[in-house]
Amino acid sequence: MTQPSAARKPADSSSNALYGGKGTRRITVRDITVAKERGEKWPMLTAYDAMTASVFDEAGIPVMLVGDSAGNCHLGYETTVPVTLDEMTMLSAAVVRGTSRALIVGDLPFGSYQEGPVQALRSATRLVKEAGVGAVKLEGGERSHGQIRLLVESGIPVMAHIGLTPQSVNAMGYRVQGRGEEAAQQLLRDAKAVQDAGAFAVVLELVPAELAAEVTRVLHIPTVGIGAGPETDAQVLVWTDMLGLTGGKMPRFVKQYADLRRVMGDAAKAFADDVVGGTFPQEEHSVH
Ligand code: KIV
Repeated sequence: MTQPSAARKPADSSSNALYGGKGTRRITVRDITVAKERGEKWPMLTAYDAMTASVFDEAGIPVMLVGDSAGNCHLGYETTVPVTLDEMTMLSAAVVRGTSRALIVGDLPFGSYQEGPVQALRSATRLVKEAGVGAVKLEGGERSHGQIRLLVESGIPVMAHIGLTPQSVNAMGYRVQGRGEEAAQQLLRDAKAVQDAGAFAVVLELVPAELAAEVTRVLHIPTVGIGAGPETDAQVLVWTDMLGLTGGKMPRFVKQYADLRRVMGDAAKAFADDVVGGTFPQEEHSVH
């Protein structure tokens, strides 16, 4: 596990406008576009509730994704597939309320945009109007071109997501994507298709590092990697994985920066021991 940040050399963020920047207004997709022009890398974390999001906001995380990974990391489902638009709207609204600086991206869940552009617009409009997100994310490359185009034409910024797309787990499983010449060419076509449709950024999940580097070179919109090597413009991790809360075996691409599962479990046991042993509450915790 990585040492706490106090023990590490801090990154030089003085010239990075997104992370460590001075502005107090909310970050916009325009800032993200400028970061690519300047060659600045940036971090993105998922968030599913107001309190956690406020911690990340204070830490300077410039972009937060209310991912449908909430399904398995927050709501107790096995995959992202059962997550509903009502759930995503509620979680996204909480994250927006808990933050003042980060750009909040709300994920469109499975079944809320696959029917076509009009369904996608109806669903995205809910996330923008009811939850207040600054952008939405949806999965798919060439197959989602029409949806992305209509949302962007309607004034809703879109982050695309290609490579491994977890909403298609029943069809593709959790396997590295883009391996082999044909699959690599398809990934490149998908990347160009979402850029052509107007997406402001694209997530590349679980693709070979060399291919992710090539996509990053070819596109003028930023790439956000997860399991896609070091050369993407941004990196995203699921917060419960990154802080060691998820439990179980982690994918190879996860770097664990803390062990919250142990910290929380130890604290819960200490509280229970105090209650059972009669050492909590004490005089300072009591009123008379
Ligand atoms: O839902 C999610 O958290 C995601 C990220 C892994 C990119 O899609």
